[in-house]
Amino acid sequence: MTALTLSTAGAATLRADALVVGVAKGAKGPVVAPGAEAVDKAFDGKLAAVLETLGASGAEGEVTKLPAPSGLKAPVVLAVGLGRAPERDGAYDAEALRRAAGSAARALSGAKKAGFALPTESAEDAGAVAEGALLGAYAFTAYQGGEDKVAPKSAKSAKKSGPKQPLGEVALLGAKPRDKAFKAAADRAVAVAEEINRARDLINTPPNDLYPESFAAVATAAGKEHGVKVQVLDEKALVKGGYGGLIGVGQGSTHGPRLVKLAYTHPKAEKTLALVGKGITYDSGGISLKPAGHNETMKCDMSGAAAVFATVVAASRLGLRVNVTGWLALAENMPSGNATRPGDVLRMYSGKTVEVLNTDAEGRLVLADALTRASEEAPDAIVDVATLTGAMVVALGNRTFGVMANDDAFRTAVHETAEEVGEASWPMPLPDDLRKGMDSPTADIANIGERMGGGLVAGVFLREFVGEGIAWAHLDIAGPAFHEGAPYGYTPKGGTGSSVRTLVRLAERTAAGDLG
Ligand code: BES
Ligand code: MN
Ligand code: ZN
Repeated sequence: MTALTLSTAGAATLRADALVVGVAKGAKGPVVAPGAEAVDKAFDGKLAAVLETLGASGAEGEVTKLPAPSGLKAPVVLAVGLGRAPERDGAYDAEALRRAAGSAARALSGAKKAGFALPTESAEDAGAVAEGALLGAYAFTAYQGGEDKVAPKSAKSAKKSGPKQPLGEVALLGAKPRDKAFKAAADRAVAVAEEINRARDLINTPPNDLYPESFAAVATAAGKEHGVKVQVLDEKALVKGGYGGLIGVGQGSTHGPRLVKLAYTHPKAEKTLALVGKGITYDSGGISLKPAGHNETMKCDMSGAAAVFATVVAASRLGLRVNVTGWLALAENMPSGNATRPGDVLRMYSGKTVEVLNTDAEGRLVLADALTRASEEAPDAIVDVATLTGAMVVALGNRTFGVMANDDAFRTAVHETAEEVGEASWPMPLPDDLRKGMDSPTADIANIGERMGGGLVAGVFLREFVGEGIAWAHLDIAGPAFHEGAPYGYTPKGGTGSSVRTLVRLAERTAAGDLG
């Protein structure tokens, strides 16, 4: 894992493989961003001109590597684009810093240590640079570099090096190591980024290795390590407890479902935030099988549970003055002779009956049970996170998650919280008229309704399983949870850890008493 240090050395004297500086798009060509003064000096004040000659513009994510001049201990300077320069004396946007640091860290994979001389005037900016660098350095290599027993010797030695290792150490320059606020921002960045990377690892782990039981085991171990109480309900307990949604979805798989409860408590906490995560470790669609082309990435269908898990552990590592309870609704959605059929009726944990008309609308079934169970403990608010609908991806694209809620003020608060931490989200409605489409002649409700507005239909379904009077928000992260394109900024290919930053900040805001 990439280490973070707050360096006391100046850029000129730092021993490292590279120095990272920021370059922004100015009105008349690239401009060097604050933090890089010593590096610019080593270029006789001509760094911007050199970069321009090399074709750099300062565009977001642009990476230019150049050999360092004498006067610097590091052999390489990496200039990373920050996008448009802020208006005169304005500060750089924290998300621009986060992304630039991420692009730089990714471009330095294989290196041992890099000094980051990006703008870090405030502790908040230093935290953003640290977070971006640690997130951008991430690589999922657990399944690469295998020994080939039969390959000819020449091919073996060619392959021997295996995948590039992530950048070993991020040294933040100019980030006042003895200043309490900077220290706290760095510590927070490490905890949040490491937990996001943990979520990414879980999402990227192939579904033959990550199934409900093994996910629950990972949660149990991490809980022990980080002071989070973990309780696991296995299939037997779920049947006994009447969790018809979890059982109904999970019964087609040889890997049975689990409901995991994670509890972080603070002795002086005044509020409790409950988080519920969709944890379908693989979504084949079940008997309503997904066609080829729609199931290759469905190991990502537990991204909500991974985000919830990461957030509870992060809250504990940060010692937040709030209770955070996580509920992981884990099941594998598979077709088999024992699978739920379209037409089956499930009796849910709440007592309501659901006619399953499409077994591919499984997320809402496992979430419903977990939402009801979470409601029993009367938390101050519940937030669920789920890769719930393709319709939300059609509506908002691949980088923005939808926010629905039973309370307008809470929905706004969640949306604004996401904005604050640099996550793209958008408020969506829960129109009452969509309920009628889920009327069932046989049961209390069907698990699908109108096709149009499918993301909202799912939200309207979930709302029925939330306890009366509890503020609840639903994040549909089906778009941003898993990134299939080329990496950009701090976002890698594969699992992204979407929503963790939002949830951690929500927990912080709840602790500070400025929510609800
Ligand atoms: N896990 C999928 C949703 C999904 C789609 C996640 C694309 C990530 C990317 C979910 O379980 C699903 O299959 N939803 C159906 C619901 C439909 C049957 C009402 C969908 O969106 O098609
Ligand atoms: Mn599905
Ligand atoms: Zn699903």
